[in-house]
Amino acid sequence: MSNNHGLFYANGSHPQLLDFSACRLDLAMASEPHLDRVERSHEPARANYNRISRFYDLIAGWSEKKSREAGLARLAAKEGEQVLEIGCGTGLALTALARAVGATGRVCGLDLAAAMVSLARARLDRAGLAERVELRTGDALTLPYPARSFDAVFMSFVLELFDTPEIPAVLAECRRVLRPGGRIGVVSISASGPRTLVRRLYEWSHQRFPRVVDCRPIPVRTLLESAEFSPTTTDAISMWGLGIEIVVAKPPG
Ligand SMILES: C[S@@+](CC[C@H](N)C(=O)[O-])C[C@H]1O[C@@H](n2cnc3c(N)ncnc32)[C@H](O)[C@@H]1O
Repeated sequence: MSNNHGLFYANGSHPQLLDFSACRLDLAMASEPHLDRVERSHEPARANYNRISRFYDLIAGWSEKKSREAGLARLAAKEGEQVLEIGCGTGLALTALARAVGATGRVCGLDLAAAMVSLARARLDRAGLAERVELRTGDALTLPYPARSFDAVFMSFVLELFDTPEIPAVLAECRRVLRPGGRIGVVSISASGPRTLVRRLYEWSHQRFPRVVDCRPIPVRTLLESAEFSPTTTDAISMWGLGIEIVVAKPPG
């Protein structure tokens, strides 16, 4: 796959090539891509996710399934690896990661909301995978892990929640905890594709009801490149007409 292309799953199953060069040119021309600021601080975010935790799978879990699974497939966690998921929510990706790394690997899950972490723990218990996963409540801005401790970091529908100046700080933390030769996989609502009607409606909802529709589209690949990551794959898929970008990238060095 060339650097200027991504796989586009227009109808959910058959990948087609989609040219991203024009969008990236636009973004590259702006020294700082425009991104709406996020007014909400982390405390209200924590309270919100604690409050909606019991309904999260119903509200978003199923609709994001295809994107999350495509991201996990691209990350391709392997037997014996150490993997961190940031913003693990109710643990929907943790079970897949725990199975992929096997008994010799280790998965860490971190989330701001204690109620989300409790649900993730219960899910892992039910799946008989709890021993392979270490869960913590914490903030991605200050990851509670030593430098160079993971082969891979995964985030799905999380990076777009952070305020614009926080995104490079979160990515710097990811760089710090990744081993040389490791990789990051990010699944996120994308600002890199066309502003379709669905995207404009979504952006309007985010501006109008930022506490409920708290994610906003971000230029995932551009943000990773600005944070010194080198993308190895960039995929674009559609979630009900909303562009989702899936980028796997390597840290410098
Ligand atoms: C939209 S949900 C996505 C959950 C999960 N990644 C998934 O795909 O199902 C966002 C998650 O990120 C967590 N989160 C929000 N801000 C965070 C922060 N500063 N640090 C760690 N987790 C955070 C929320 O509590 C929530 O569980």
